[in-house]
Amino acid sequence: MEKINRRTFMQSVAAAAAVSAVPEAEAKPEGSGPVFLSTWPHGKPANERAAEVFKSGGSLLDAVEKGINVPESDPNVMSVGYGGLPNADGVVSLDAGIMDGTRHRAGAVCALEGIKNPISVARLVLERTRHTTMAGEGALRFALEMGFHTEQLLTPKSLERWMQWKATPNHETFWITPDNHDTIGMVATDGRGHMVAGCSTSGLEWKIPGRVADSPLVGLGYFADDNAGAASATGDGDLMSNYCTSVSIVHLMARGASPQEACAEILKQMVKTIPANKDGECAVIAMNNRGEIGTASMNAKFHLKYALWRNAESQLLDSVVLY
Ligand code: GLY
Repeated sequence: MEKINRRTFMQSVAAAAAVSAVPEAEAKPEGSGPVFLSTWPHGKPANERAAEVFKSGGSLLDAVEKGINVPESDPNVMSVGYGGLPNADGVVSLDAGIMDGTRHRAGAVCALEGIKNPISVARLVLERTRHTTMAGEGALRFALEMGFHTEQLLTPKSLERWMQWKATPNHETFWITPDNHDTIGMVATDGRGHMVAGCSTSGLEWKIPGRVADSPLVGLGYFADDNAGAASATGDGDLMSNYCTSVSIVHLMARGASPQEACAEILKQMVKTIPANKDGECAVIAMNNRGEIGTASMNAKFHLKYALWRNAESQLLDSVVLY
Protein backbone atom coordinates (compact mmCIF):
# COMPACT_ATOMS: atom_id res chain seq x y z
CA MET A 1 0.00 0.00 0.00
CA GLU A 2 1.24 3.51 -0.82
CA LYS A 3 2.88 5.19 2.16
CA ILE A 4 1.59 8.66 2.90
CA ASN A 5 2.83 10.98 5.57
CA ARG A 6 0.84 11.68 8.70
CA ARG A 7 0.01 15.24 7.65
CA THR A 8 -1.41 14.18 4.28
CA PHE A 9 -3.32 11.42 5.97
CA MET A 10 -4.86 13.78 8.51
CA GLN A 11 -5.80 16.28 5.78
CA SER A 12 -7.57 13.57 3.81
CA VAL A 13 -9.35 12.28 6.91
CA ALA A 14 -10.49 15.77 7.86
CA ALA A 15 -11.73 16.54 4.39
CA ALA A 16 -13.52 13.23 3.94
CA ALA A 17 -15.08 12.86 7.31
CA ALA A 18 -15.64 16.51 8.27
CA VAL A 19 -16.42 15.50 11.82
CA SER A 20 -15.09 16.83 15.08
CA ALA A 21 -11.68 15.84 16.37
CA VAL A 22 -11.50 12.76 18.53
CA PRO A 23 -9.51 12.86 21.76
CA GLU A 24 -6.48 10.59 21.96
CA ALA A 25 -6.86 7.38 23.96
CA GLU A 26 -5.33 7.67 27.41
CA ALA A 27 -2.45 5.26 27.03
CA LYS A 28 0.86 6.34 25.56
CA PRO A 29 3.79 4.12 24.66
CA GLU A 30 6.18 3.78 27.53
CA GLY A 31 9.32 2.10 26.31
CA SER A 32 9.49 -1.40 24.98
CA GLY A 33 7.98 -4.52 26.47
CA PRO A 34 4.88 -6.51 25.78
CA VAL A 35 1.47 -4.82 25.61
CA PHE A 36 -1.90 -6.61 25.68
CA LEU A 37 -5.12 -4.81 24.77
CA SER A 38 -8.50 -6.56 24.98
CA THR A 39 -12.19 -5.82 24.77
CA TRP A 40 -14.54 -5.61 27.77
CA PRO A 41 -13.98 -6.37 31.45
CA HIS A 42 -13.43 -10.06 30.70
CA GLY A 43 -10.36 -8.86 28.78
CA LYS A 44 -8.60 -7.93 32.03
CA PRO A 45 -8.04 -11.47 33.36
CA ALA A 46 -7.36 -12.50 29.75
CA ASN A 47 -4.56 -9.91 29.45
CA GLU A 48 -3.16 -10.91 32.83
CA ARG A 49 -2.96 -14.56 31.79
CA ALA A 50 -1.45 -13.59 28.42
CA ALA A 51 1.22 -11.52 30.17
CA GLU A 52 2.02 -14.44 32.53
CA VAL A 53 2.38 -16.88 29.62
CA PHE A 54 4.64 -14.47 27.75
CA LYS A 55 6.75 -13.80 30.84
CA SER A 56 7.21 -17.54 31.37
CA GLY A 57 8.75 -17.92 27.93
CA GLY A 58 5.67 -18.54 25.78
CA SER A 59 5.46 -16.97 22.33
CA LEU A 60 3.16 -14.01 21.67
CA LEU A 61 0.77 -16.42 19.90
CA ASP A 62 0.79 -18.70 22.97
CA ALA A 63 0.07 -15.66 25.15
CA VAL A 64 -2.90 -14.45 23.09
CA GLU A 65 -4.33 -17.98 22.80
CA LYS A 66 -4.01 -18.77 26.51
CA GLY A 67 -5.27 -15.31 27.43
CA ILE A 68 -8.41 -15.77 25.34
CA ASN A 69 -8.90 -19.23 26.91
CA VAL A 70 -9.71 -17.46 30.21
CA PRO A 71 -13.09 -15.92 29.23
CA GLU A 72 -13.76 -18.94 26.97
CA SER A 73 -13.57 -21.25 30.00
CA ASP A 74 -15.45 -18.94 32.38
CA PRO A 75 -19.14 -19.98 32.67
CA ASN A 76 -20.02 -16.47 33.85
CA VAL A 77 -18.97 -14.89 30.55
CA MET A 78 -22.11 -15.56 28.54
CA SER A 79 -20.87 -14.30 25.18
CA VAL A 80 -17.76 -16.46 24.72
CA GLY A 81 -17.00 -20.20 24.96
CA TYR A 82 -18.40 -22.36 27.79
CA GLY A 83 -21.64 -20.82 29.05
CA GLY A 84 -21.98 -18.63 25.95
CA LEU A 85 -25.62 -18.09 24.99
CA PRO A 86 -26.82 -20.55 22.36
CA ASN A 87 -28.40 -20.20 18.92
CA ALA A 88 -32.16 -20.40 18.29
CA ASP A 89 -32.01 -24.22 18.52
CA GLY A 90 -30.43 -24.03 21.98
CA VAL A 91 -27.00 -25.10 20.69
CA VAL A 92 -23.82 -23.20 21.61
CA SER A 93 -22.03 -22.45 18.35
CA LEU A 94 -18.60 -20.85 18.69
CA ASP A 95 -16.40 -18.77 16.39
CA ALA A 96 -12.74 -17.81 16.87
CA GLY A 97 -9.64 -16.77 14.95
CA ILE A 98 -6.01 -15.87 15.60
CA MET A 99 -3.45 -14.15 13.34
CA ASP A 100 0.34 -14.05 13.37
CA GLY A 101 1.53 -10.69 12.06
CA THR A 102 4.99 -12.01 11.12
CA ARG A 103 3.88 -14.92 8.93
CA HIS A 104 0.81 -12.94 7.80
CA ARG A 105 -1.23 -16.09 8.44
CA ALA A 106 -4.42 -16.74 10.38
CA GLY A 107 -6.27 -19.80 11.63
CA ALA A 108 -9.99 -19.78 12.34
CA VAL A 109 -13.00 -21.92 13.19
CA CYS A 110 -16.67 -21.08 12.65
CA ALA A 111 -19.85 -22.63 14.05
CA LEU A 112 -17.89 -25.08 16.19
CA GLU A 113 -20.03 -27.04 18.65
CA GLY A 114 -19.06 -28.83 21.85
CA ILE A 115 -15.49 -27.50 22.22
CA LYS A 116 -15.13 -24.77 24.80
CA ASN A 117 -11.82 -23.28 23.60
CA PRO A 118 -12.29 -22.54 19.89
CA ILE A 119 -9.29 -20.17 19.86
CA SER A 120 -7.05 -23.20 20.58
CA VAL A 121 -8.60 -25.11 17.67
CA ALA A 122 -8.09 -22.00 15.50
CA ARG A 123 -4.44 -21.93 16.58
CA LEU A 124 -4.05 -25.52 15.35
CA VAL A 125 -5.69 -24.67 12.02
CA LEU A 126 -2.92 -22.07 11.73
CA GLU A 127 -0.09 -24.36 12.86
CA ARG A 128 -1.08 -27.75 11.44
CA THR A 129 -2.88 -27.06 8.17
CA ARG A 130 -2.51 -25.01 5.02
CA HIS A 131 -6.09 -23.78 5.47
CA THR A 132 -7.17 -20.56 7.11
CA THR A 133 -10.80 -21.15 8.14
CA MET A 134 -12.66 -24.36 8.99
CA ALA A 135 -16.37 -24.51 9.71
CA GLY A 136 -19.06 -26.66 11.31
CA GLU A 137 -18.82 -30.45 11.15
CA GLY A 138 -15.39 -30.38 9.47
CA ALA A 139 -14.00 -28.05 12.14
CA LEU A 140 -15.32 -30.39 14.83
CA ARG A 141 -13.77 -33.44 13.18
CA PHE A 142 -10.48 -31.57 12.94
CA ALA A 143 -10.66 -30.62 16.63
CA LEU A 144 -11.33 -34.24 17.64
CA GLU A 145 -8.39 -35.41 15.53
CA MET A 146 -6.24 -32.85 17.34
CA GLY A 147 -7.21 -34.40 20.68
CA PHE A 148 -9.99 -32.07 21.86
CA HIS A 149 -13.01 -33.61 23.59
CA THR A 150 -16.61 -32.54 23.27
CA GLU A 151 -18.64 -31.44 26.26
CA GLN A 152 -21.97 -29.79 26.93
CA LEU A 153 -21.35 -26.04 26.68
CA LEU A 154 -24.76 -25.00 27.98
CA THR A 155 -24.67 -24.14 31.66
CA PRO A 156 -27.78 -24.18 33.88
CA LYS A 157 -27.79 -20.37 33.57
CA SER A 158 -27.51 -20.24 29.76
CA LEU A 159 -30.08 -23.04 29.36
CA GLU A 160 -32.50 -21.15 31.57
CA ARG A 161 -32.00 -17.97 29.51
CA TRP A 162 -32.67 -19.90 26.28
CA MET A 163 -35.80 -21.54 27.73
CA GLN A 164 -37.11 -18.16 28.88
CA TRP A 165 -36.53 -16.75 25.39
CA LYS A 166 -38.19 -19.77 23.78
CA ALA A 167 -41.20 -19.48 26.07
CA THR A 168 -41.73 -15.78 25.37
CA PRO A 169 -44.61 -15.35 22.92
CA ASN A 170 -43.46 -13.72 19.67
CA HIS A 171 -39.89 -13.77 20.91
CA GLU A 172 -37.48 -11.67 18.90
CA THR A 173 -33.75 -11.86 18.51
CA PHE A 174 -31.89 -9.33 20.59
CA TRP A 175 -28.37 -8.44 21.58
CA ILE A 176 -26.44 -9.56 24.61
CA THR A 177 -27.26 -7.94 27.93
CA PRO A 178 -25.15 -5.06 29.18
CA ASP A 179 -23.84 -7.37 31.89
CA ASN A 180 -22.33 -9.80 29.49
CA HIS A 181 -20.90 -7.59 26.80
CA ASP A 182 -19.57 -9.36 23.76
CA THR A 183 -16.70 -10.93 21.93
CA ILE A 184 -13.22 -11.10 23.41
CA GLY A 185 -10.84 -9.44 20.99
CA MET A 186 -7.16 -9.19 21.92
CA VAL A 187 -4.29 -7.44 20.17
CA ALA A 188 -0.72 -7.73 21.40
CA THR A 189 2.89 -6.83 20.77
CA ASP A 190 6.07 -8.29 22.20
CA GLY A 191 7.60 -4.81 22.36
CA ARG A 192 9.87 -5.57 19.40
CA GLY A 193 7.39 -5.02 16.61
CA HIS A 194 5.81 -8.48 16.49
CA MET A 195 1.99 -8.32 16.46
CA VAL A 196 -0.73 -10.92 17.11
CA ALA A 197 -4.52 -10.53 17.10
CA GLY A 198 -7.21 -12.96 18.25
CA CYS A 199 -10.95 -13.03 18.68
CA SER A 200 -13.49 -15.49 20.15
CA THR A 201 -17.27 -15.39 20.57
CA SER A 202 -20.46 -17.37 20.93
CA GLY A 203 -21.97 -14.74 18.62
CA LEU A 204 -25.40 -13.23 18.59
CA GLU A 205 -27.64 -14.97 21.09
CA TRP A 206 -30.54 -16.92 19.56
CA LYS A 207 -28.87 -16.52 16.14
CA ILE A 208 -30.24 -18.48 13.22
CA PRO A 209 -28.28 -21.76 13.18
CA GLY A 210 -25.41 -21.46 10.72
CA ARG A 211 -24.96 -17.73 11.18
CA VAL A 212 -21.31 -16.61 11.23
CA ALA A 213 -20.32 -12.96 11.60
CA ASP A 214 -17.10 -11.00 11.86
CA SER A 215 -15.28 -12.58 14.83
CA PRO A 216 -13.67 -15.65 13.20
CA LEU A 217 -13.00 -14.09 9.80
CA VAL A 218 -9.55 -12.73 9.14
CA GLY A 219 -9.65 -9.01 8.42
CA LEU A 220 -13.09 -8.61 9.95
CA GLY A 221 -12.96 -9.56 13.65
CA TYR A 222 -9.17 -9.37 13.88
CA PHE A 223 -6.07 -8.65 11.80
CA ALA A 224 -2.34 -8.39 12.50
CA ASP A 225 0.59 -7.25 10.39
CA ASP A 226 4.02 -6.65 11.90
CA ASN A 227 4.57 -3.88 9.34
CA ALA A 228 1.82 -1.74 10.85
CA GLY A 229 -0.14 -3.15 13.81
CA ALA A 230 -3.19 -5.14 14.84
CA ALA A 231 -6.90 -4.52 15.38
CA SER A 232 -10.05 -6.24 16.57
CA ALA A 233 -13.77 -5.48 16.53
CA THR A 234 -16.66 -6.15 18.90
CA GLY A 235 -20.39 -5.65 18.61
CA ASP A 236 -22.91 -6.25 15.88
CA GLY A 237 -20.92 -8.56 13.65
CA ASP A 238 -23.63 -8.68 11.01
CA LEU A 239 -23.25 -4.92 10.59
CA MET A 240 -19.48 -4.65 10.96
CA SER A 241 -18.73 -7.54 8.58
CA ASN A 242 -19.74 -5.23 5.74
CA TYR A 243 -16.92 -2.82 6.56
CA CYS A 244 -13.99 -5.23 7.06
CA THR A 245 -13.16 -3.19 10.14
CA SER A 246 -9.96 -4.78 11.42
CA VAL A 247 -8.02 -4.91 8.16
CA SER A 248 -9.23 -1.40 7.33
CA ILE A 249 -7.86 -0.09 10.62
CA VAL A 250 -4.49 -1.79 10.08
CA HIS A 251 -4.28 -0.37 6.55
CA LEU A 252 -5.07 3.11 7.87
CA MET A 253 -2.21 2.71 10.37
CA ALA A 254 0.07 1.54 7.53
CA ARG A 255 -0.76 4.81 5.77
CA GLY A 256 0.30 6.91 8.76
CA ALA A 257 -2.74 7.11 11.02
CA SER A 258 -2.30 6.66 14.75
CA PRO A 259 -4.27 3.74 16.24
CA GLN A 260 -6.75 6.23 17.72
CA GLU A 261 -7.23 8.04 14.40
CA ALA A 262 -7.65 4.72 12.58
CA CYS A 263 -10.28 3.43 15.05
CA ALA A 264 -12.26 6.66 14.78
CA GLU A 265 -11.94 6.80 11.02
CA ILE A 266 -13.43 3.35 10.33
CA LEU A 267 -16.46 4.07 12.51
CA LYS A 268 -16.92 7.46 10.83
CA GLN A 269 -16.75 5.80 7.42
CA MET A 270 -19.56 3.49 8.50
CA VAL A 271 -21.70 6.51 9.35
CA LYS A 272 -20.71 8.32 6.18
CA THR A 273 -22.05 5.46 4.07
CA ILE A 274 -25.20 4.85 6.17
CA PRO A 275 -26.06 7.55 8.75
CA ALA A 276 -28.23 5.10 10.73
CA ASN A 277 -25.03 3.22 11.59
CA LYS A 278 -24.55 5.91 14.27
CA ASP A 279 -26.92 3.84 16.40
CA GLY A 280 -25.09 0.59 15.69
CA GLU A 281 -23.43 -1.56 18.35
CA CYS A 282 -19.86 -1.18 17.14
CA ALA A 283 -16.52 -0.81 18.89
CA VAL A 284 -12.92 -1.35 17.84
CA ILE A 285 -9.46 -1.59 19.37
CA ALA A 286 -6.07 -1.18 17.71
CA MET A 287 -2.36 -1.17 18.47
CA ASN A 288 0.51 -0.16 16.24
CA ASN A 289 3.86 -1.91 16.12
CA ARG A 290 5.28 0.64 18.59
CA GLY A 291 2.73 -0.38 21.23
CA GLU A 292 0.57 2.76 20.90
CA ILE A 293 -3.12 2.01 21.25
CA GLY A 294 -6.50 3.33 20.12
CA THR A 295 -10.08 2.41 21.00
CA ALA A 296 -13.47 3.72 19.88
CA SER A 297 -17.15 3.03 20.45
CA MET A 298 -19.75 4.22 17.98
CA ASN A 299 -22.10 5.57 20.68
CA ALA A 300 -22.67 5.71 24.42
CA LYS A 301 -25.30 2.93 24.32
CA PHE A 302 -22.58 0.44 23.38
CA HIS A 303 -19.68 1.91 25.32
CA LEU A 304 -16.65 -0.35 25.20
CA LYS A 305 -14.61 -0.77 28.34
CA TYR A 306 -11.21 -2.02 27.30
CA ALA A 307 -8.50 -3.82 29.24
CA LEU A 308 -4.87 -2.75 28.90
CA TRP A 309 -1.81 -4.56 30.27
CA ARG A 310 1.45 -2.65 30.01
CA ASN A 311 4.55 -2.46 32.24
CA ALA A 312 3.03 -4.98 34.68
CA GLU A 313 0.01 -2.73 35.18
CA SER A 314 -3.43 -4.12 34.36
CA GLN A 315 -6.18 -1.56 33.83
CA LEU A 316 -9.80 -1.34 32.75
CA LEU A 317 -10.49 1.91 30.88
CA ASP A 318 -13.28 3.64 28.93
CA SER A 319 -12.97 3.89 25.16
CA VAL A 320 -13.56 7.10 23.25
CA VAL A 321 -17.25 7.48 22.22
CA LEU A 322 -17.81 9.02 18.79
CA TYR A 323 -21.53 9.84 18.56
N1 GLY B 1 -19.24 -9.71 17.12
C1 GLY B 1 -19.78 -10.95 17.45
C2 GLY B 1 -20.84 -11.41 16.55
O1 GLY B 1 -21.56 -10.61 15.99
O2 GLY B 1 -20.99 -12.59 16.40
